[in-house]
Amino acid sequence: MAKVWSKRFDSTLNPFIEKFNASIGFDKTLILEDIECSIAHAKMLCKTQVLSLKETSQIISGLDTIKIEFLEGKFCPGAPSEDIHYCIEEKLIGLIGDTGKKLHTGRSRNDQVGADLRIWLRKAIDNLDLLIIDLQKSMFNIAKANVYTLIPGYTHMQRAQPVSLAHHMMAYLEMFERDRERLKEVRARVNISPLGAAALAGTKIKIDRFFTAEELGFEKIYKNSIDAVSDRDFCVEFVSASALLMSHLSKISEEIILWVTDEFSFANLTDKCATGSSLMPQKKNPDVPELIRGKTGRVYGHLQALLTMIKGVPLSYNKDFQEDKEPIFDTVETI
Ligand code: ARG
Repeated sequence: MAKVWSKRFDSTLNPFIEKFNASIGFDKTLILEDIECSIAHAKMLCKTQVLSLKETSQIISGLDTIKIEFLEGKFCPGAPSEDIHYCIEEKLIGLIGDTGKKLHTGRSRNDQVGADLRIWLRKAIDNLDLLIIDLQKSMFNIAKANVYTLIPGYTHMQRAQPVSLAHHMMAYLEMFERDRERLKEVRARVNISPLGAAALAGTKIKIDRFFTAEELGFEKIYKNSIDAVSDRDFCVEFVSASALLMSHLSKISEEIILWVTDEFSFANLTDKCATGSSLMPQKKNPDVPELIRGKTGRVYGHLQALLTMIKGVPLSYNKDFQEDKEPIFDTVETI
């Protein structure tokens, strides 16, 4: 397939490199955010009179059609498009013709991908917050019902002092509250618009960065365009806050695993959440907390991957950054 940049190139890309270079396999996750950003960008270009009203409405209705076709399962983004940004652009041009090419005026995939990922992550953080609150509520109910249930409190894994089970559970509530606070702080640094930075140095096209930022619900805009397309700190910060959250989930999982052993016998697993063994019928395996404990390692790994990915990368955008998405997506999915 002819590339957007192919006019200067004599031969097409080696098929293996084409596959190696592509991110469509995973960045298709960003399809709705990409469309949302493009609609905001088109509206902005209309406001600054770069696009006519007619062109803008053609572009927006084309993008709406793509969104509807996707939601109805009639359009599946994928190869041979290189990434979700080209994929939507190619589809739009297919739908409305050459006017579709004008959508990319005054922007680059560099600021585009940054905006898409930030919007996706902002929504993900809001969903995670609700999940954490749910978990806290369940724990609070256990605490409320067990104010007078005494368990041994431990230090060094040695029985230390009797404590109320409520006291013990409320300790987890506090940890998860700190996780919520951390995610909220990260969200503030996620919620900054890189749009208008274009490739790295902005554009001479008349744009309005505040308009797109406001349209997309960003709190503020990046002050420096080179920083805007190069900043992946927010990815590291998010996965770092997530790693701590996973450590808390792993800690409570470990306690559940201990508590349901014959040796402890503090708790029983209900049949709905335990697996058994045909060979050893006395067993009830705590697979779920074991998996949570095990999956914590994945998120720690993603943190290491991202820290290493950003290290020593010169300004500004480098293709290394394409590697930011899978760790983020998998971290959210894992939590
Ligand atoms: N797929 C790319 C990514 O995820 C989009 C940005 C590409 N920009 C570029 N200059 N090649 O990072």
